[in-house]
Amino acid sequence: MKELIVHDAGNAPLYRILLEETFDGLVPLLHSLDVSERKLCLVSDSIVGALYGNEVGGILEKAGFSVVSFSFPAGEASKNLSTVEQLYDFLIAHSFDRNDVLLALGGGVTGDLTGFAAATYLRGIRFIGIPTSLLSMVDSSIGGKTGVDFKAYKNMVGAFYQPSAVYINVNALKTLPPREFLAGMGEVVKHAFIRDAGYYTFLKENREEILGKNEELLCSMIYQSLCIKKAVVERDPKEKGERALLNFGHTVGHAVEKLSDFSLLHGECVSAGMLAAAEISVLRGTLSAEDSRKIRDLLTAYGMQTKVPAPERDEFLSVCHRDKKADGSRIKFVLLDAIGNAFLDSEVSDEEIWTAVQAIL
Ligand code: GLY
Repeated sequence: MKELIVHDAGNAPLYRILLEETFDGLVPLLHSLDVSERKLCLVSDSIVGALYGNEVGGILEKAGFSVVSFSFPAGEASKNLSTVEQLYDFLIAHSFDRNDVLLALGGGVTGDLTGFAAATYLRGIRFIGIPTSLLSMVDSSIGGKTGVDFKAYKNMVGAFYQPSAVYINVNALKTLPPREFLAGMGEVVKHAFIRDAGYYTFLKENREEILGKNEELLCSMIYQSLCIKKAVVERDPKEKGERALLNFGHTVGHAVEKLSDFSLLHGECVSAGMLAAAEISVLRGTLSAEDSRKIRDLLTAYGMQTKVPAPERDEFLSVCHRDKKADGSRIKFVLLDAIGNAFLDSEVSDEEIWTAVQAIL
């Protein structure tokens, strides 16, 4: 078992992240949060609910908790205000008050929408993240970004709202489909590329064990990613500066994701998007061609996405400019000057972006 504590800007503890190998530690965690007399709502999608809903609900009920379960159809198409509204209705029907608690059992969609419902229901109730996908374990469950998509815009409506705790059962990854696992690896390797060359070496050297889902290696990998993400969000919780580095690969990635009508997974698009950003870094002369090749080699060795369907130039660039990360007409791009060292640049031109995209077609 490993534990991390996320702090606020004044260094006061905000919440614990527990990294475990079963769901058994959930009950002691809930007791430590003083929620014993409270109602719990277990929120999950149709797939994760079928896999783990009974197990987690059963553990909690056996321990004497009063639990109700809310389920919604799996997929990005459910990450909207309509699902949040259905959850509000469910909470009202079960007389949830401000002291009751939501448990987000699932991947990024479940965590983001449950967190947003928790942030807004009765002006804010507690929620606990129980991430079951790799992407949500290492990225979306940490740092308080909650929200839903709105019309065609991803994560357009949301709030910064911190969980009361995050509980990770690394063995939930055993049922994660391989495609989803590799998509989560997109965010994992991103942590290495932007912050930690030693972590890059770890990922390179332990590829077989990680892909074979060796428990010890997975725990070590998730822990290292969590340490990187925790340090960044503690220093810059609301993305005024450094946190934007976590968007490495996301400008091109989000545009590809949107133009694929979300048929490509977020992490797959980020993976190809990181290659494009590395290519711009090489064009700029900040990153060596050798480091860019190492990035491509690592993605290829894991079998991650390095190619995307060819987009139409003007449409692609216009989607990049509409992305949340664009500031007026300038796109804030995350570039590299070495593996393990990222920086922010807002002067990247359309020509540079388009040239870099050619490298991932
Ligand atoms: N996923 C990027 C962030 O949490 O800032």
